[in-house]
Amino acid sequence: MNNLLKGKKGIIFGALNDKSIAWQAAMKCFEQGATFVLTNAPIAMRMGEINNLAAACGNAQIIPCDVSKNEDMENLIAKSMEILGGKVDFILHSVGMSMNIRKGKDYADVDYKFMHDTLDISAISFHRLMQTVHKMDAINEWGSIIALTYIGAQRVFPDYHEMGDAKSLLESYARSFGYRFGKEKKVRVNTISQSPTKTTAGSGVKAFGDFFAYAGALSPLGNASAEDCANYIVLMFSDLSRMVTMQNLFHDGGFSYTGFSHDVFKLMEEHKSAE
Ligand SMILES: NC(=O)c1ccc[n+]([C@@H]2O[C@H](COP(=O)([O-])OP(=O)(O)OC[C@H]3O[C@@H](n4cnc5c(N)ncnc54)[C@H](O)[C@@H]3O)[C@@H](O)[C@H]2O)c1
Repeated sequence: MNNLLKGKKGIIFGALNDKSIAWQAAMKCFEQGATFVLTNAPIAMRMGEINNLAAACGNAQIIPCDVSKNEDMENLIAKSMEILGGKVDFILHSVGMSMNIRKGKDYADVDYKFMHDTLDISAISFHRLMQTVHKMDAINEWGSIIALTYIGAQRVFPDYHEMGDAKSLLESYARSFGYRFGKEKKVRVNTISQSPTKTTAGSGVKAFGDFFAYAGALSPLGNASAEDCANYIVLMFSDLSRMVTMQNLFHDGGFSYTGFSHDVFKLMEEHKSAE
């Protein structure tokens, strides 16, 4: 099906390279007829890869924005409306970063400045984005706002560390702001809880490879890829999902509702015989 997003305008955060979920989402949104602005942290732009994505998406404009800075966020929203010729219809928040994980700090020995940065960049930025859009009246009725999250918000995955706490807060913002946006502007806000995915952020989590194999073995459909996630994002930006709001939507091949699987058992047997 084509043209699901024909005539829709948006903003896509977080495309670092072609492995990024946001990169795949931008490609799919463009395929479905959307026009949009791309944004990332100024430091991420220095790598330059985002220019290739912009070229592949009808020469989309790129606006730098460090999501932890109010002035960057205001500038992004104002410029996006200028470039796109009015309010937007969809926004993808695909941003995450934990300095404690990066620096190898144990969960019981965190640096609190780093923890502040983690919460600010990975969660509060979602509130900052919605507050800015709300104040600037920058989104059309029946618009759709999505942020990406992980099941570490509900269950303990020890190596997911402080990101589990950040994702809990992110999901809560989707409900709290979703209520307000729904009542006042008929705009929906949801989070998509994605399978482990081989991206720069994903691979930064300790023992990611083993965990990726475990999640794939537990999930009846296997792990959902970045491309699968991009398709789901298109659906959530389209008018086909207009009454869905304030939800945390699991996009994980069935992982979240599976207790045990024979494939996990096989994986454990293989481990034992390799020892
Ligand atoms: N990869 C996974 O296993 C997985 C699973 C579930 C959810 N997610 C979530 O998906 C989202 C996208 O991550 P990804 O896996 O595509 O990895 P990614 O590394 O490609 O994307 C993360 C993005 O965050 C951006 N970012 C970091 N700090 C920023 C800042 N201060 N300002 C603006 N942007 C900043 C990075 O530049 C990068 O583009 C994140 O929210 C992540 O937590 C990932």
